[in-house]
Amino acid sequence: MDSILVRGNGPLSGEIAIAGAKNAALTLMPATLLTDEPLTLTNVPRLSDIKTTNELLSSLGTEVAVMQDGQIIVLDTNQITNHTADYDIVRKMRASILVLGPMLARDGKAIVSLPGGCAIGARPVDLHLKGLEAMGGTIELKEGYIYATAKNGLKGATIDFPFASVGATENILMAATLAKGTTQINNAAREPEIVDLADCLRKMGAEIRGDGSPTITVQGVEKLYGATHPVVTDRIELGTYMLAPVIAGGEVELLGGRINLLSAFCEKLDEAGISVTETKRGLTVASRNGRISGVNVVTKPFPGFPTDLQAQMMAALCTADGISVLEETIFENRFMHAPELIRMGASIDVHGGTATVTGVDKLKGAPVMATDLRASVSLILAGLAAEGETIVSRVYHLDRGYEQLVRKLSACGANIERISA
Ligand code: EPZ
Repeated sequence: MDSILVRGNGPLSGEIAIAGAKNAALTLMPATLLTDEPLTLTNVPRLSDIKTTNELLSSLGTEVAVMQDGQIIVLDTNQITNHTADYDIVRKMRASILVLGPMLARDGKAIVSLPGGCAIGARPVDLHLKGLEAMGGTIELKEGYIYATAKNGLKGATIDFPFASVGATENILMAATLAKGTTQINNAAREPEIVDLADCLRKMGAEIRGDGSPTITVQGVEKLYGATHPVVTDRIELGTYMLAPVIAGGEVELLGGRINLLSAFCEKLDEAGISVTETKRGLTVASRNGRISGVNVVTKPFPGFPTDLQAQMMAALCTADGISVLEETIFENRFMHAPELIRMGASIDVHGGTATVTGVDKLKGAPVMATDLRASVSLILAGLAAEGETIVSRVYHLDRGYEQLVRKLSACGANIERISA
């Protein structure tokens, strides 16, 4: 298993091009199952999760053509030849559950392995299943698989989510495009990835209103058509790299970044004393006087502070002036980066869903272990300004969500290299 070696190396300067959003691509790709015409996605990030999704869709009968070094993918599902998403693929990537709604809507049947939990939490899919049942689906759970059928096709329904679940909103939104009648999703997730999915589905002929607001209305149609759609910029990659100059000092321009993708996050940076400026090509981030002030963070569904940036923000707050309190309200176990940061000399107290960080002068490099995608990148960020060497092991987690991370940071002056095991 590869590791990444980072040595604290002073302020950064340069530019980083932000890729297409992993969490948008992972829901756009299953949309191919809704039509028998080709769906072309551009600005696709080059990540292992995308490869896994290509594998999954091919196993269902999709013809996958990858071009331009993976940045363009043409998905053609003339017909679904296999309606079972196997455990051995689903266990690698939970987002595989997003083939359930489209397959059920297209052919009235789908067998999908239950995704199971992951490091950050149990991550049930009850809201996905309840939504599909409300639309006339019959759901049975047997031997770790979801057996879904809809003999007479799906019908429109009003669905009230107790929690603004991103994945459940995406599954139901895709299923509703081909259901008979109108579907209304109340307390829908509002993430930019949901709006991106709705934009793509509308290009395919779907009738969708209200995406980005808490209430989405879908008028089912007979058929969807092929389309070409660019994947929206990855706001989590953007926020991650915005914190690199915050931690290491200096100034970096993030190409393709826009403040409206991350307004709550940018407000927090402003509160901490970081200036974020929109430029013609993206965003520039610079730490005003070298150190940041401690701030309190509560993660929330969009437009609140993103849970996917909590670990990275914690890394930045380890060397802030004063005390910061971070409250993780989305996942039940998303502080696994804390013990690793403590190994680097951070002062962090975790109690349940709250972590209290007391700023220290400097962190010290140490061997640390990645536990999940965002925790691993928070350790890399911490290593940028730590004294000495930080070796982050199990970087396969990183490959799931950050394309060319070593190249992007080295280009801004970071002393970072990948060590093959
Ligand atoms: C998506 O996961 C993202 N993944 C996650 O990003 C992100 O952290 C999360 O949304 C929240 O923003 C993808 O888009 C592929 P949820 P998802 O359904 O859809 C509970 C990353 O690092 N819940 O909004 O699984 C669930 O347990 C990943 O890129 C139910 O209880 O998130 C969790 O506590 C990590 N029942 C909370 O809701 C359900 O049926 C948020 O889940 C569904 C969810």
